[in-house]
Amino acid sequence: MQEMSSHVQTARPSQMTDLTERAARIKQKLEQGVKKPYKDVIDVSWGDPQRAGMKPLSFVRQVLAACFYPQLLDGDNLPLDVKRRAQELLWCCDGGSVGSYTNTPGISEIVESIAEFLTRRDGIPADPGNIWIHPGSQMSLMKILSLLVHSEASPKSGVLMPVPGHTTTPLSVETLGGVVVPYFLDEECGWEIGVDELRRALDSARGVCQPVALYVINPGNPSGHVQSRKSMEEVIRFVAENKLFLLADEVYQSSIYDAEREFVSYKKLLWELGPPLSHTLELASFHSASKGLLGECGLRGGYVELLNIDPAVMPYVQQSFHMVTCSPVYGQIALALMAKPPQPGDPSYPLYKHETECARSTLLDNVKRVHQVLNSLPAIRCQPVQGGAFAFPRLLLTPKAISKAKEVGMQPDTFYCVGLLEETGLFVSPGSEYGQKEGTYHIRICIMTSADIMEELLRRLSAFHLQFMKDFE
Ligand SMILES: Cc1ncc(COP(=O)(O)O)c(C=O)c1O
Repeated sequence: MQEMSSHVQTARPSQMTDLTERAARIKQKLEQGVKKPYKDVIDVSWGDPQRAGMKPLSFVRQVLAACFYPQLLDGDNLPLDVKRRAQELLWCCDGGSVGSYTNTPGISEIVESIAEFLTRRDGIPADPGNIWIHPGSQMSLMKILSLLVHSEASPKSGVLMPVPGHTTTPLSVETLGGVVVPYFLDEECGWEIGVDELRRALDSARGVCQPVALYVINPGNPSGHVQSRKSMEEVIRFVAENKLFLLADEVYQSSIYDAEREFVSYKKLLWELGPPLSHTLELASFHSASKGLLGECGLRGGYVELLNIDPAVMPYVQQSFHMVTCSPVYGQIALALMAKPPQPGDPSYPLYKHETECARSTLLDNVKRVHQVLNSLPAIRCQPVQGGAFAFPRLLLTPKAISKAKEVGMQPDTFYCVGLLEETGLFVSPGSEYGQKEGTYHIRICIMTSADIMEELLRRLSAFHLQFMKDFE
């Protein structure tokens, strides 16, 4: 165990909590009129586009408003296609109301429209019977993990997880009594997953736990990496050889910024590889209304699509999923609108197109600016952000800064983030939250902001960084 985890640094949960509390105190002081060298807190510590300053899409909010207050259908304020979609969605709700329980997997018509979306995306028929909606994709993942990880198992069940990676998934594995088996993404190769590293990780688990699954995030959080087909194929073959279950977290699938990269789902690649892999490899793929240009994190809509699950196991899957009566209807509606946005010719289409094109072009500019500005600073190296919601630059901190951090009982990157927040009001999260190779330090910045916020963020970060490096030369 020692051997397996000794190269990962993770922050004590209190370090992120401490930063969050500091940010709240600063906001409060600013509201009370206390003078600071900045007028507001810029919070880009979460992967939450609306918290970071992006605007919701009008179409989504209009349909939701009409579903929740059907009297709006009688007025003239909403476009005709918005009224039609809201009316259709209400017809799918029992009692014609969003206040009713729904089927456990989700409203049937919505599950079907997700299957149609997947069929269009992959060019492979998707079966609505394999799709379950949950209050967020994280809940879908937790449900699948609860079937794979047995708290009483001896040896314990292990799950291979990327480092750096999304914070809540390792917590879910540990809460269920499983063991996190870290595999490191290769920063110098733009955070690619290497099959040699997967083999090393699997070997390190020998005698510690029984690995049952491999978790991948593509596009990556926090790495911003989009996997190549070659790398995905290696992952698939590795998973098959070692009889693992593949958990593919694909929530950032619509956020691709690098023209040389495309999102390919694991399901599609599996299909292309053909039998026996396409018919045998067990796969759970996750997607969400929280990410991409929809960015409706607070509405809590996510789903899992299952593939090649042993029919004998399916009743247990269903039983486990039935423990949640149903997901909130607003999250389900958000997924329905993600699966079937306005089409050319619909009255809402021009505004929808305008809003999504503006947001996309802002994000493309943000990604360029982050890369340009950060890589022009001394002692910061930022890999290209190919997709996802984050830049994850590496800080080349000096021994003086590292020993000062230790002196005050903080991880060095947390120490940097605390200074940045206190002195500039910019709230980014420390790399130690996501795991990183020992002796390396990073910060995570959500890039889903408006252009103005991005410029201000880069200005504050650059000024602080130059001063920090001077102070701890
Ligand atoms: C990789 C990844 N998966 C899942 C989630 C959670 O998504 P949801 O809001 O659908 O639970 C996040 C949130 O940041 C994420 O980064």
